Amino acid sequence: MIIVKKLKQRFDLEIDNIATDKSISHRCAIFSLLSDKPSIIKNYLRGEDTMNSLKIAELLGAKIEDNGEFIKTTPPKKLKEPFEILDCGNSGTAIRIYSGLLAGIDGFFVLTGDKYLKKRPMKRVVEPLVSIGAKIDGRENGNLAPLAIRGAKLKSFDYNSKIASAQVKSALILDGLNADDISFYTEPTLSRDHTERMLKGMGADIDNIDEKIVIKPLSRPLEPLNISVPSDPSSAFFFAVAAAISKSRVVLKNVTLNPTRIEAFKVLERMGAKIEYILKEDKYEPIGDIIVQGDSLRGVEVTENISWLIDEIPALAMAMAVAEGRSVVKNGKELRVKESDRIKATVSNLERCGIKTEEFEDGFAVIGGTPKFAEIESFGDHRIVMSFAILGILSGVKIEETDSVLTSFPNFVKILKNITEVEE
Ligand code: S3P
Repeated sequence: MIIVKKLKQRFDLEIDNIATDKSISHRCAIFSLLSDKPSIIKNYLRGEDTMNSLKIAELLGAKIEDNGEFIKTTPPKKLKEPFEILDCGNSGTAIRIYSGLLAGIDGFFVLTGDKYLKKRPMKRVVEPLVSIGAKIDGRENGNLAPLAIRGAKLKSFDYNSKIASAQVKSALILDGLNADDISFYTEPTLSRDHTERMLKGMGADIDNIDEKIVIKPLSRPLEPLNISVPSDPSSAFFFAVAAAISKSRVVLKNVTLNPTRIEAFKVLERMGAKIEYILKEDKYEPIGDIIVQGDSLRGVEVTENISWLIDEIPALAMAMAVAEGRSVVKNGKELRVKESDRIKATVSNLERCGIKTEEFEDGFAVIGGTPKFAEIESFGDHRIVMSFAILGILSGVKIEETDSVLTSFPNFVKILKNITEVEE
């Protein structure tokens, strides 16, 4: 349980301990299995979700050594058929990307997760995998976990995805690397591209030709990763919103500036916040600092590039709640199948805070106002907890369930305490 108290004064804060990137960390654990040499991973996210991914790599035969400063993952010569079921916890990324990897590996594997993950759709990854020869089953005809996978030799493909999903894309790319001929993958709009960047960095032959991703089969194992995981923009964004709604200033250190990940910051700029991006390095990913100075906010329409800000929409809704005028989010049907139904969770909690909203099948509208103290329902979703905790710096909030925050941002409350009083 947390009670967030109203902010007493504006803040000017530099944050250098934002949780590191969840998407990149999962991929580090999984992709390190594709090399024949040890990978070195600095700043791996020690959240529940990503630690589960590492545990799965271990159950598949990798040796994992963590000296506190970096994690060394030594892959096995050949992935091992595990004794146990592979528990992905709360993570859609882990279950979907591991499905892609294991579908093409000799052996029997069972992937499962917590009660929330077991309700999320897997057909989006199971269907294309089955179409190239994978043997996967699960509840509801393979749509719901647990998923049982009997590894098989998969065919090369030319797959045209109806959804822009980085998880589906990643699963298929991994199989393209193992196929016996060249494969092609097309998505309606570009989803986050960490998989392409990291695998290319490891020596994979992956190209973008016109709208297609072209994947050539591996002729030898990939080079290992030697990576320092940057801060996660979707975690950093909570504190960007905190600064934006309180006319404060924050410096968010060492965040990935990958264009497919910082679109929510661009929307916050359109709402009136002043934002600077200071590029510092560029290995696998562009990385730098983001400086946010809050100012008066106005309503905004968010209808494009949705997959580039899908995870930040609940936090963005907090800025919309205090902006002048009406804001609208459309084309966000995917929000319904995230860790919770985030349209329902966002709208119903904003109403509790006295903010007027409208709910659509694929989004919502928010009429900016003055939020009041409320008790928030988390829906077991880390991003709902953190978003409303941020709104709490203006209105005060009480949130009963906060354990979900451990999946992605274990030191969130500690950082929040630098801004305002929080009772635990
Ligand atoms: C992720 C992709 C996104 C995102 C999720 C992480 C990833 O989902 O919402 O939190 O790491 O690949 P999609 O697969 O729907 O793009």
